[in-house]
Amino acid sequence: MGAAVIDGKAFAAKVRGRVADHVARLKAETGITPGLAVVLVGEDPASEVYVRNKGKQTLEAGMASFEHKLDATTSEADLLALIARLNADPAVHGILVQLPLPGHLDSDLVINAIDPAKDVDGFHISNVGLLGTGQKAMVPCTPLGCLMLLRDLHGSLSGMEAVVIGRSNIVGKPMAQLLLGDSCTVTIAHSRTRDLPAVVRRADIVIAAVGRPEMVKGDWLKPGATVIDVGINRTRVESGKDRLVGDCDYASCAEVAGAITPVPGGVGPMTIACLLANTLTACCRANG
Ligand code: GUN
Repeated sequence: MGAAVIDGKAFAAKVRGRVADHVARLKAETGITPGLAVVLVGEDPASEVYVRNKGKQTLEAGMASFEHKLDATTSEADLLALIARLNADPAVHGILVQLPLPGHLDSDLVINAIDPAKDVDGFHISNVGLLGTGQKAMVPCTPLGCLMLLRDLHGSLSGMEAVVIGRSNIVGKPMAQLLLGDSCTVTIAHSRTRDLPAVVRRADIVIAAVGRPEMVKGDWLKPGATVIDVGINRTRVESGKDRLVGDCDYASCAEVAGAITPVPGGVGPMTIACLLANTLTACCRANG
């Protein structure tokens, strides 16, 4: 039996629609327009595509978009000065500094210079601590999108076995915190985990966020498991063209899983939808 395909693209469109409705009401009732500032340092082509999409979808939701493209050689002092200006700007409710930054810039220092109330990525150490202690935090967008898909599919996640593969600060660790918050039994697996297939086989929910193309195979899964594939890997196929694949081997996993997200069209669209939702949340909190 084949797995149900989790349509993240359609779900993200619904989330963006709800955000746009709320933004329109907010503007009509208070005259306030939520604003998102995106800072891109350098010319990484993948980052440029993300930033363009973010800007476009921000405007489509009725929000203001402020793009700051800085030269790859920008000094840390200049970047910190820009962040200080954005922190102080009342028209800016959310600030996102696109990662990765060029090597001469200290990402932790830069991220922690953002006002935590405007940190729509949820990467500031204050938001990390708030999430880790179950308090009201800005939550990182990709894990938040995964959680929304899981809640939509299952309702309550309470008591489910979840295995998160990958321990990054952007996805793996916050994902584990969110699942714990929803009363899952959570395992974080990573490159040093012994007998990964056996660990994955325990899971009712598998979150794959390792950045290794098609690593998770169908015979690793418990039959009926829900598979959320966060991976976006470009691989060269025989025709010489590039193809996007996830961290899961879709064909074999879809034979065993109960439900699975495709790549593309699964988790990816949810990330920007959650960024817009976080920007609206930041704006509402800033304005009481
Ligand atoms: N680079 C890749 N994903 C992300 C993200 O979610 N936020 C930021 N700021 N940079 C990224």
